[in-house]
Amino acid sequence: MKIIAISGSLRPNSSNTALLYVVAKLAPKNLDLTIYKGLTDLPHFTPELDGDTLPTSVRDWRGLLEKCDGVIISTPEYAYGMPGVLKNALDWIVSSGELVGKPVATISASPSELGGSKAHASLVLTLAALAANLVEGGSVTIPFIGKKLNANGELTDLNTVQSLKFLLDALVRGIIDNRK
Ligand SMILES: Cc1cc2nc3c(=O)[nH]c(=O)nc-3n(C[C@H](O)[C@H](O)[C@H](O)COP(=O)(O)O)c2cc1C
Repeated sequence: MKIIAISGSLRPNSSNTALLYVVAKLAPKNLDLTIYKGLTDLPHFTPELDGDTLPTSVRDWRGLLEKCDGVIISTPEYAYGMPGVLKNALDWIVSSGELVGKPVATISASPSELGGSKAHASLVLTLAALAANLVEGGSVTIPFIGKKLNANGELTDLNTVQSLKFLLDALVRGIIDNRK
């Protein structure tokens, strides 16, 4: 089972990226989870670039998504929405359709008490436009993230660890159902 994990944050000490590494550690051995690091390589989306001679970074991005069985996206909230780099990456697959029917789990994390819920909602809306398969139970919003990760990026809040385990289980179930 191959899963691509995407963080919407470019910060080296990103809490959203740290959460994806936590999920990777929770994953069983038969699950190949790769954290995508190419968001900044993607050019700004414009339909004029979306032709036969695609930028290599876009070809690679689409290829990774096409070949995987499922996707996890963890997003911060910037000004009540998902970061532009993440939206840009998703805009690149509107026409090509790699997420159509693909099982997807979503996370948002923020230092605020709402856990980036507006960014989460904006991500879910865009994923609906892409006809992704948002798996049941595969959605987590994490408030007060600064108090739950230590300096080494380890999750010290056991309830959040449990939530991420449930999210991963839900995604795996969604992938198995998708194969039937
Ligand atoms: C320009 C900017 C706008 C932000 N807007 C919001 C916001 O609307 N809601 C929120 O909860 N946090 C907001 N934040 C705080 C981010 O949630 C916080 O920096 C978070 O840790 C970023 O995620 P990361 O640790 O994965 O990089 C904002 C941060 C920046 C720099």
